[in-house]
Amino acid sequence: MIPLTLAIDTSCDETSVSVVRGVEVLSNVLPSQVEFHAQYGGVVPSLARLAHQQRIDNVVKEAIRRSGVTFEQLDVIAVTIGPGLAIALEVGINKAKELAEQYKKPLMTINHMEGHLLSSFAERRKKENSQMINDKRPRKNIESRTYSLIQFPVLGILVSGKHTEIVLVHKIGKYEIIGETVDDACGEAFDKCGRMLGLGYPAGPVVAEFAKQHRKNMTLSQFNRHKSTIIEAINKKSKRKYELPVAMAQSGDLNFSYSGLKTAFKQLVDLQIKNNIGNLDKGTLYDLSVIFEAAAFKPIEIKLEKAIQKYRPSEVWLGGGVSASAQLRLLLRRICRQYNTDLRFPISKKFTTDNAAMIAVAANLNIMEIGINNSKNIYKNNFESIDRDPTLQLGDE
Ligand code: KG4
Ligand code: ZN
Repeated sequence: MIPLTLAIDTSCDETSVSVVRGVEVLSNVLPSQVEFHAQYGGVVPSLARLAHQQRIDNVVKEAIRRSGVTFEQLDVIAVTIGPGLAIALEVGINKAKELAEQYKKPLMTINHMEGHLLSSFAERRKKENSQMINDKRPRKNIESRTYSLIQFPVLGILVSGKHTEIVLVHKIGKYEIIGETVDDACGEAFDKCGRMLGLGYPAGPVVAEFAKQHRKNMTLSQFNRHKSTIIEAINKKSKRKYELPVAMAQSGDLNFSYSGLKTAFKQLVDLQIKNNIGNLDKGTLYDLSVIFEAAAFKPIEIKLEKAIQKYRPSEVWLGGGVSASAQLRLLLRRICRQYNTDLRFPISKKFTTDNAAMIAVAANLNIMEIGINNSKNIYKNNFESIDRDPTLQLGDE
């Protein structure tokens, strides 16, 4: 069975609804709330809830309209129940319950991080369905990849605004977190450090863009001093030199930490401001973006390599908002190649940021793995018992 699912995700500041058949995304509507929250420099939960409430009906309608299917044709309604902002999650959950009751469909609860983990499976809509019906060539479909090509275990690496974790995937639906951040997340560090540079909200993608433009003008190296690992960046022209620590490089485990990097970066920025006697000039902003990005990604490179050596996965699945970074993909692909491992990542930015398509894909892959009647987290009635779980972790039953 290739399920047809409508999924809703309102875990943070995107009101997203998507219709997916198997892994083929028929529609993925995600109006962003960034402009609301930018003036506050971060997501304000009460505003996020209000915006979700105002938009959800239209977003559901639009997702159905763009998909070209009807509510009656759906097999399942799926919804994110966590992790995320409690009062934001509730809006999506209530809407999903309402739809499941109205159209008599089963309701499946999904962990937002499982969505990010499986987001590299999401495929763009095939050419017109009518054309598909007449096309007798065999379709390369997901079943072959899911069931015969993938050799488990696989490693997942999830890098977002709130999470930085390495997941051991025993099979679809069976996950074990083997490394995670002990404090802040990588994406959050990008946003906070970008803010220190005056780059607005969310600053992460701007830091990434500055680093991309300027990387070729810097020489990067790494060395150990006492028990710390340090990244050094030298501007090839001005010869200015910068240093930042690589957090937990020698911790021996697979965990991450980003709070020390934020503190060290603040000191580095303050020092530049002092030396420049006032505001940062453009050249320094570029230099700082390059060294920050290198120091933020280095622990991910180190820990992923360690995990690959230990678990020898056939594939690595990258997901989460920071997986939009071409540089992160390049660095991780380099490591994967050394170990003959495939790196998979979402094919579009629409699947890296928070989106409901990845939630529908997660629902469908689970159903395809064990059947709709055996799938955990499927409710055919008793919808009242479904509740949000803001601190839900992968591997929690
Ligand atoms: O997964 P996501 O949309 O939201 C969470 O669930 O947290 O991730 C958003 C994060 C933000 O912190 C944003 O700054 C970061 O992803 N981000 C990037 C890039 N694009 C988005 N960080 C680094 N490089 C990028 N190109
Ligand atoms: Zn997310």
